[in-house]
Amino acid sequence: MTPVTTKQQIILSGNRPTGRLHLGNYTGALENWVALQQDYRCYFMVADWHVLTTDYEHTPQIPDNTREMVLDWISAGLDPETSTIFVQSHIKEHAELYLLLAMLISTARLERNPTLKEQVRDLKIDEGEEGMSYGHLGYPVLQAADILIYRAHVVPVGEDQLPHIEITREIARKFNRLYGEVFPIPDGKLTKFARFPGLDGRRMSKSLGNTIELADSPETIQTKIKTAFTDPQRKRRQDPGRPEYCLIYTYWQKFQPLTAPEIYEACTTAKIGCVECKQRVGQAIADYLAPLREKRKALEAKPGAMEEVIHAGDAKARAAAVETMTEVRERMHIG
Ligand code: TRP
Ligand code: SF4
Repeated sequence: MTPVTTKQQIILSGNRPTGRLHLGNYTGALENWVALQQDYRCYFMVADWHVLTTDYEHTPQIPDNTREMVLDWISAGLDPETSTIFVQSHIKEHAELYLLLAMLISTARLERNPTLKEQVRDLKIDEGEEGMSYGHLGYPVLQAADILIYRAHVVPVGEDQLPHIEITREIARKFNRLYGEVFPIPDGKLTKFARFPGLDGRRMSKSLGNTIELADSPETIQTKIKTAFTDPQRKRRQDPGRPEYCLIYTYWQKFQPLTAPEIYEACTTAKIGCVECKQRVGQAIADYLAPLREKRKALEAKPGAMEEVIHAGDAKARAAAVETMTEVRERMHIG
């Protein structure tokens, strides 16, 4: 039985809505969330305001991307009865807390944020005419508001998000010191498979076009797997391969670990060729994802099902956020 004490602990995490999720999103975060929901009171948030910090020119796709992402969340096992699944922009209290917390951190501290520096480099933001927006600089302050408004203790995230958790902790400490103990100091919790390889061996990422999506059909998975990189030194069928240099072997380890030793043996002794190995791992992935695909199909068949989940989640999130904000306003002697 789950001890009551852990269920008292609160988790909040979120993702920007980018549409359908891929195996990298699954192993990097979602799978972990599904496991954690048994032991914690969980809030899972669609961070749609956070999309605007970099992508304010492309707003029409946000509703579809939100819907597709939540469909994947639930298909993968997030349970809307157990966890609170909601949309950031529906809970306006986040914006109020964001404004208040913005007073508690210096611009110099935000400019030192390594995740921001990486984005500036990757997106070439400083080369554009306009440079970085005020909202983009404040990205971690909004994230702090997301976390603190639910008084979360634990925030499961990828490595790139740890600097934002550190900023959240600093803001929470400063608030507590100035106005009284309102917020727990949250801990980041890293996921195991932070970097999952895509079909070209680089990190699996939508922008790199090297993904297998959770909703891909078995046929699509096979077509994509055919293009995957393998051990570059294995040129001919009779050459032995090196599974440790082959991303297909990583897929075996993840999606059918019991067969992995057999594949290792067959590869290193050239008993199996890459064409067959890929075909079989494609099947293993398709089998692994079959229950997700079925769940998705059932959900898609029910009109309004996603809207209902979000509506119910919003109500639960709002109740908690309103309560925190009442206390925050009292403590700060403001509005
Ligand atoms: N910044 C996170 C990301 O890009 C998304 C996010 C927004 C988030 N608010 C959050 C994650 C609060 C954890 C907690 O993935
Ligand atoms: Fe990779 Fe399989 Fe080919 Fe070995 S046989 S190199 S594991 S694809």
